[in-house]
Amino acid sequence: MPKNKKIGILTGGGDCPGLNAVIRAVTKSAHENGYDVIGFKDGFKGLVENDFIELTDCMVSNILTQGGTILGTSNTANPYRWAKKDKKGNLIFEDLSEKAISNFKKNKLEALVVLGGDGSMAIANDLVNDGLSIVGVPKTIDNDLPHTDMTFGFNTAVRTATGAIDKIHTTAQSHHRAMVVEVMGRYTGWIALYSGVAGGGDIILIPEIPYEIKSIYKTIKERKENGKNFTIIVVAEGAKPKGGDLTVRKVIKNSPDPIRLGGIGMKLANEIEENTGIESRATILGHIQRGGVPTPFDRVLATRFGVEAVNHVLNKRYGKMVVLKNNEISSVLISSVTSEVKNVPKNYSLIKAARAVGTCFGD
Ligand code: F6P
Repeated sequence: MPKNKKIGILTGGGDCPGLNAVIRAVTKSAHENGYDVIGFKDGFKGLVENDFIELTDCMVSNILTQGGTILGTSNTANPYRWAKKDKKGNLIFEDLSEKAISNFKKNKLEALVVLGGDGSMAIANDLVNDGLSIVGVPKTIDNDLPHTDMTFGFNTAVRTATGAIDKIHTTAQSHHRAMVVEVMGRYTGWIALYSGVAGGGDIILIPEIPYEIKSIYKTIKERKENGKNFTIIVVAEGAKPKGGDLTVRKVIKNSPDPIRLGGIGMKLANEIEENTGIESRATILGHIQRGGVPTPFDRVLATRFGVEAVNHVLNKRYGKMVVLKNNEISSVLISSVTSEVKNVPKNYSLIKAARAVGTCFGD
């Protein structure tokens, strides 16, 4: 059995439920195989600044159910594009990848396990090209990484969003209102589709199907004529009208993913109220979708991913990201996940099922 070999681990990008479950699985199964594990703090920032903690068995005990990440994360720290301010206070970017690479070597790491979404995988891929031994683990509530049926965090976000829609239902019914619930998901509609179907949304709007506002007014009016005095509209933050633009909340200049979406829910509620005369309200679920206790499904997926990441290290299968395919864990090249987004296919079976029960997609 190898002695004193070492694996590094870091969590990059936005947090999500299940990160700690992966950290635990990687640490425990690495220890079982005679490896030590160090965890870099705050994503790639820790690798650049050589800021890490040794992960003991005790430290990862009892974190399976904890949301967030005990290591901290960052969605701006990119070793290849390190943001800092010049003397005039302007943002400038430096390439500090040499530092990240030399810290990997200084710590005599056998490999680095990177838990992240597309931004972190793009950085991981650059480090692979610069010679580092890396295994990726796909994380994001958005479920938008290609080649994996699911990312961990998604199932928990859907549960949270569905719970919120359930609550919105009772107040919508009482006040005979149109209630818009805005969920996350960036440029994809996975969270909106799954939580919308699970929560019985009457209208589901996703980026993959640009909507006609008139179709939304028509559905709401028809429901009223049929004695249904309320309507639930579940809208993905990335949804947009046909021929129209995304609703952008903020641009973060030093982020690998600079655009922050948000605000479509409020816009829609105002439009619906003005044009149908039906009182409307918007609820933006925001970051509660990223927090809290991971579901059993996410804990299981995170554990399977973490154990397989260590298997990849033991077998020196580097430059790979572990994935879930047809309920089996396998892996793909990290380079294959950095250039595309996994959208909801327009003919996706769940869209068909939702249409079959009368859900309107605004088209
Ligand atoms: O990618 C995860 C996610 O929560 C997206 O759904 C959302 O658009 C974005 O991150 C929000 O980012 P931030 O936490 O930087 O506001």
